[in-house]
Amino acid sequence: MKLLVVAALFGLCFAQHDPNTKHGRTSIVHLFEWRWADIAAECERYLAPNGYAAVQISPPSESIVVTNPWHPWWQRYQPISYNLCSRSGTEGELRDMIIRCNNVGVNIYVDAVINHMCGAAGGEGNHSSCGTYFNTKNKDFPSVPYSSWDFNDYKCKTGNGEVESYNDIFQVRDCRLVSLLDLALEKDYVREKVAKYLNKLIDMGVAGFRVDACKHMWPGDLSNVFGRLKSLNTTWFLPDTKPFIYQEVIDLGGEAIKASEYFELGRVTEFKYSAKLGKVIREWDGEKLSYLKSWGEGWGFMPSDKAVVFLDNHDNQRGHGAGGASVLTFWDSRLYKIGTGFMLAHPYGVTRVMSSFRWDRHFVNAKDENDWMGPPSNADGSTKPIPINPDTTCGDNWVCEHRWRQIRNMVIFRNVVSDQPLANWWDNGNSQISFSRGSKGFIVINNNNWELNETLNTGLPGGTYCDVISGDKIDNSCTGKKISVDSDGRATFHISHTEEDPFIAIHAESKL
Ligand SMILES: *[C@@H]1O[C@H](CO)[C@@H](O)[C@H](O)[C@H]1NC(C)=O
Ligand SMILES: *[C@@H]1O[C@H](CO)[C@@H](O)[C@H](O)[C@H]1NC(C)=O
Ligand SMILES: *[C@@H]1O[C@H](CO)[C@@H](O)[C@H](O)[C@H]1NC(C)=O
Repeated sequence: MKLLVVAALFGLCFAQHDPNTKHGRTSIVHLFEWRWADIAAECERYLAPNGYAAVQISPPSESIVVTNPWHPWWQRYQPISYNLCSRSGTEGELRDMIIRCNNVGVNIYVDAVINHMCGAAGGEGNHSSCGTYFNTKNKDFPSVPYSSWDFNDYKCKTGNGEVESYNDIFQVRDCRLVSLLDLALEKDYVREKVAKYLNKLIDMGVAGFRVDACKHMWPGDLSNVFGRLKSLNTTWFLPDTKPFIYQEVIDLGGEAIKASEYFELGRVTEFKYSAKLGKVIREWDGEKLSYLKSWGEGWGFMPSDKAVVFLDNHDNQRGHGAGGASVLTFWDSRLYKIGTGFMLAHPYGVTRVMSSFRWDRHFVNAKDENDWMGPPSNADGSTKPIPINPDTTCGDNWVCEHRWRQIRNMVIFRNVVSDQPLANWWDNGNSQISFSRGSKGFIVINNNNWELNETLNTGLPGGTYCDVISGDKIDNSCTGKKISVDSDGRATFHISHTEEDPFIAIHAESKL
């Protein structure tokens, strides 16, 4: 009896760390700023067939509409209400997307903005994505409704009401983050409104939440809100399945608030992973790929079962939110593919692939003056659909990293090897490395500026395998390099440093 109670408590405590993915799929793709109609189609035509587990969608809640600058991406991080119309589409389109993605086994995780409403200078009127009225001077958001009683200003102790020092945990949680009106999540009323919003999405069929700006909320308040969440919709999930929670906490070390304060509540975004992997792949500060042998907890990262990891996210790819020059993005496509290949081959964390749009970068003193630019849009500011080219890439400045062959095939690799430990590590003491995932997959990377010529232990059964980086296995033949593994599991590799993709990956399902 006692054991049962302990098991039940344990289950309760850790349920929210489980991404609830289906069919052995493992990776999330963030379809940043995509329209719901395009995501629904993408789930059916591309994500499910290629083994993507889930989509992180942009915030579906009603947001402010900013025209100076012109419809910036960050307007969606400034809620006006929890109505479900946004530049990604209507509530009906959102519902249709959730149903269609669930029907092909792709989960939807919602980017939930619950720390704040819009900026204090938002003004008065109905320049909001559903056209509902608000007034930031009175802190009046009638369609929730929130009024001046529902904000934290009475608790904030700084002169201007803003977060001034990240070393003061009270400021960080009780004051305004870049002037955003800070919700009083200690109030039962506010907690109830937030939970009602999230529960509506759960009933519609979403499988979890990426929770924005968690560092700026007290873990106790979040615990209360998460405790109010319903189980997932049983049309697609087993009874009593808890929503997956992953919290945005930017902790690169050196601040008063630690990511570990949030581990109990759900997973946490590991920003160190993004910053450090960028440095290693770029070989800055004397870093070498061979140092990745102890990658993960060995680098001071959070425990793997608490982490959501990524090379870049929508903030740091444009210099926001812990952005630094080391962060790898699609703008450095060769290094980005190497980094993503490593991330997806390595067992640490739940992996998230970024899918971006291109914008007109304009650097002045190393700062991108156009870091605000929103998605490809029509003259009236509405978001453009995603056109798919005959070669399966995307048009109209949608980058679609998740459709790049090297990235898509490594997402499949991760699914194939998910139950296998890292094994057979080899490195040249420099930036040539290889490792297997048990006996199901093997990757070798040459990030040195000379050729790699090695006979390596792949851990795989003997046979001929198709390298899924240089090509695809189609109808039992291979459009890329063929690798022959002998009966001892050994294979000889040549990778020139001048190749566009200086790495090779083979796995159980790429065997010919
Ligand atoms: C917004 O307010 C303006 C001016 O009062 C009004 O003309 C317009 O119809 C409103 N728009 C919506 C979508 O309610
Ligand atoms: C679960 O989803 C189905 C299909 O959309 C819907 O009919 C049902 O009402 C939802 N369940 C709840 C509890 O909302
Ligand atoms: C690798 O092998 C090729 C031919 O097999 C040879 O031309 C090249 O010099 C070798 N490179 C190194 C670094 O040993």
